[in-house]
Amino acid sequence: MKGRVKFETFVNGEGFPFEDAAIFEKVYHENLQMEPDEKKELFKHSIAVLMYVDDELVGETYGIPTQELEEEIPNVTKDAQTIYCYSNTIIPSHQHFGWGKIMKAFWMGFVKAKGFKKVVGHTNMQTGSDILNAFFGARFGQIHKDWYGTGTPYVAYEIEL
Ligand SMILES: CC(C)(COP(=O)(O)OP(=O)(O)OC[C@H]1O[C@@H](n2cnc3c(N)ncnc32)[C@H](O)[C@@H]1OP(=O)(O)O)[C@@H](O)C(=O)NCCC(=O)NCCS
Repeated sequence: MKGRVKFETFVNGEGFPFEDAAIFEKVYHENLQMEPDEKKELFKHSIAVLMYVDDELVGETYGIPTQELEEEIPNVTKDAQTIYCYSNTIIPSHQHFGWGKIMKAFWMGFVKAKGFKKVVGHTNMQTGSDILNAFFGARFGQIHKDWYGTGTPYVAYEIEL
């Protein structure tokens, strides 16, 4: 799919359009969805990217430095140079055209420029997200067969930047 691509970057939630970005919550199982206010709280320590194709908002990806994570996430060790990738999401109408891979590459470049050396996360094994991360050299760890009661397997991964 051709299109004019634009990225916007956001640090610590400043200027982030929480209401517009609510479209990305709907892509996830209800157990994983966040209300704008909940997301605002999480974004206090975040590095985020939004992707537009022909001026349409189609992608969102963001991470939280592991040292700033308030919730305990399984298999995540906290250190100053590691960021936890919370989400990499393309709206369904634009999936499978390569945008997800491009957006993640952009976000990883941005966090590397900020001094991070490693990305960790848990990736959905049913949406091809694990294959996307493998493309970036991900090493995989523990499999969670039923991630947060979604009935979907996720696997832990880490990518050296
Ligand atoms: C996962 C997601 C971000 C991928 O974005 P996308 O734009 O559809 O993916 P891309 O087109 O960039 O594909 C990247 C690679 O993933 C693989 N892939 C994508 N979808 C796949 C699928 N359904 N099954 C198997 N592999 C798939 C392909 O190997 C592709 O590599 P290629 O371009 O060399 O063929 C997107 O599908 C999405 O938002 N899904 C729902 C939310 C989600 O699961 N996010 C990840 C949470 S961990």
